[in-house]
Amino acid sequence: MNFLRNRLVVLGLVLLGTLLLYLLLPSMRQGSMEPSLHIQQRMGHILATPPMPPSGANITVRTGQLPGDPPIFFREALPVDSAGRQILPKLQMVLLHGQAFSSKTWEELGTLGLLASNGYQALALDLPGYGNSPDSESVKTDQARVNLLKRFLEALGVRAPVLLSPSMSGHYSLPFLQRHSAQLHGFIPIAPVGTRGITPQEYHDIQTPTLIVYGELDTNLGAQSHKNLIQLPNHSVVKLAGARHACYMDKPREFHQAMLKFLQKLD
Ligand SMILES: *[C@@H]1O[C@H](CO)[C@@H](O)[C@H](O)[C@H]1NC(C)=O
Ligand SMILES: *[C@@H]1O[C@H](CO)[C@@H](O)[C@H](O)[C@H]1NC(C)=O
Repeated sequence: MNFLRNRLVVLGLVLLGTLLLYLLLPSMRQGSMEPSLHIQQRMGHILATPPMPPSGANITVRTGQLPGDPPIFFREALPVDSAGRQILPKLQMVLLHGQAFSSKTWEELGTLGLLASNGYQALALDLPGYGNSPDSESVKTDQARVNLLKRFLEALGVRAPVLLSPSMSGHYSLPFLQRHSAQLHGFIPIAPVGTRGITPQEYHDIQTPTLIVYGELDTNLGAQSHKNLIQLPNHSVVKLAGARHACYMDKPREFHQAMLKFLQKLD
């Protein structure tokens, strides 16, 4: 009798243990998996910039160098179909960069890949003296800088691009806008220098659709360029909350969203 009761107790304990293990295991598993899930989700937030690229898009960024004086280094991302074949881009976009940056910035931020996966050709160049482009005495005047951009566009078969221009690159983009605005399908100035070099009458006559982007905390160049650029008749403004001068670095997701929305209206 005693022996039987002992066996029953042991059996009961084993059953109880099994039940406990059964109940506890999933939460133990979850506990150990949760951190990696969290990381994945957070990375997803940083990397996935809506709208999501079409599935199977496989974008490679190639680099090249346009010979000449000075030679111009560039990066390019082209749209492809789901089989990886190149397709005709909806629009061509040319990206300049600020003083502390280069074309690499747009590759690392995911902007080039994002543009290509949304059907646009994206070309980012290193301005003379930055990144992989040697400095040159020949770009010391507005006209020389305009000529450099023209040479680049012509050589790469770019016609009527959307020009994106942050900060220092305003030395190139604003003289270009002033002289050749009809050649620009769109303009995305991001707190550029040089907005005071265009007269009110000249601003008034420029028809290029323009998206003015700047950081809320950029009370210097951001606010100043905004004040001048709103003279452009066809403009819209995106002020990125909590962002500093390089607002696209501070708020890449919001910046990318605003850029794609603007491009959608143009293509
Ligand atoms: C992307 O391209 C690489 C190299 O061409 C290929 O190995 C890979 O399978 C492609 N991935 C997708 C999702 O198409
Ligand atoms: C302003 O630009 C938009 C594209 O962003 C275009 O659809 C619209 O027609 C333009 N408006 C004028 C008055 O040119």
